[in-house]
Amino acid sequence: MKVNGEPTRTIWPVPGGAVDIIDQTRLPHACRVRRLKDLADAVHAIRSMQVRGAPLIGVTAAYGVALALARRADDVALQTAIEALAATRPTAVNLHWALARLRALLAPLSLAERAAAAWQEAARIADEDVEQCRRIGQHGLHVLRAGLGLRRRIEILTHCNAGWLATVDHGTALAPVYAACAAGIDVHVWVSETRPRNQGLLTAWELGQQGVPHTLIADNAAGWLLARGGIDAVLVGADRIAANGDVANKIGTWLKALAAQAAGVPFYVAAPRSTIDFACPDGAAIPIEERDADELRVVHGGDAAGRRRKLRLLPADQAVANPAFDVTPAALVSALITERGSCPATGQGLLALYPEERHG
Ligand code: MRU
Repeated sequence: MKVNGEPTRTIWPVPGGAVDIIDQTRLPHACRVRRLKDLADAVHAIRSMQVRGAPLIGVTAAYGVALALARRADDVALQTAIEALAATRPTAVNLHWALARLRALLAPLSLAERAAAAWQEAARIADEDVEQCRRIGQHGLHVLRAGLGLRRRIEILTHCNAGWLATVDHGTALAPVYAACAAGIDVHVWVSETRPRNQGLLTAWELGQQGVPHTLIADNAAGWLLARGGIDAVLVGADRIAANGDVANKIGTWLKALAAQAAGVPFYVAAPRSTIDFACPDGAAIPIEERDADELRVVHGGDAAGRRRKLRLLPADQAVANPAFDVTPAALVSALITERGSCPATGQGLLALYPEERHG
């Protein structure tokens, strides 16, 4: 997608054996590129959410392994890198999927082959992500057209950021929005703020960069907007989809699914294969990340002169709970949209799209 009119990815390798990312902790106030030079930089980037969003976390982890092996490629170094990256964020399964894929590829190779193979595989995962998200956009547009009929204007509600910034390019939930715009459909997106990390601000920024009309709302406004009418569909991403179709996504997603059901509005979840965890039976088995309490106590922004500022909302001893994700039961999901097409949010639906996952 574009930044200031220039096609840009969220992550890319640079000559000399480093990786550049867009530092998402600086958005929407400034778009800054940050260089990751070693494993510690990659671990920090994921944990601190300089990169975030399930698919992008997976790609960054893959490059993190490549950065580590460029220095030392023996079994201990490989294991250390995988363990350090795996410990960064528990819920998005793309991270663990990417690390398992690299381990399976690299472990049998000679030490001399490993570093180059890791770079190539990380680049392959990144390119696959771009293509899968592009396909999600096409399939998602088809689902919207089939569900809503041929409309000149579509009103979408989304939560968190499941756009280009959460992937390498195109996004998951926003890919159908971009596809609809490209097809000449008039789309307007309602963007929920997504406290406490305010990923909705990232969504508003990237939609603005692509010229997509959108309106930011407080999280608590979503229920009323759905009840009042005028929203055609809710479209969100996922951090992990269990084998039965339950969906872990950013905290607050479940409330939107409940409100959508009450209002009779379809609730769609868009995600690539790397987000589907066939080894996880249902939502109860998905680990939910608990993040730092200061994410609620302290807000970040810019002052009138554009300088970065922190503002304390609550004293340091204020008791706070900060679960970063929730689980939307499959029964509330109208359809899952993947790079292979759409399906009901059921085990059978998923296996029909991914028959190679049928065992026994
Ligand atoms: O904590 P984050 O910002 O990494 O969480 C991101 C989300 O929950 C997204 O909605 C999800 O990863 C889908 S991204 C394509």
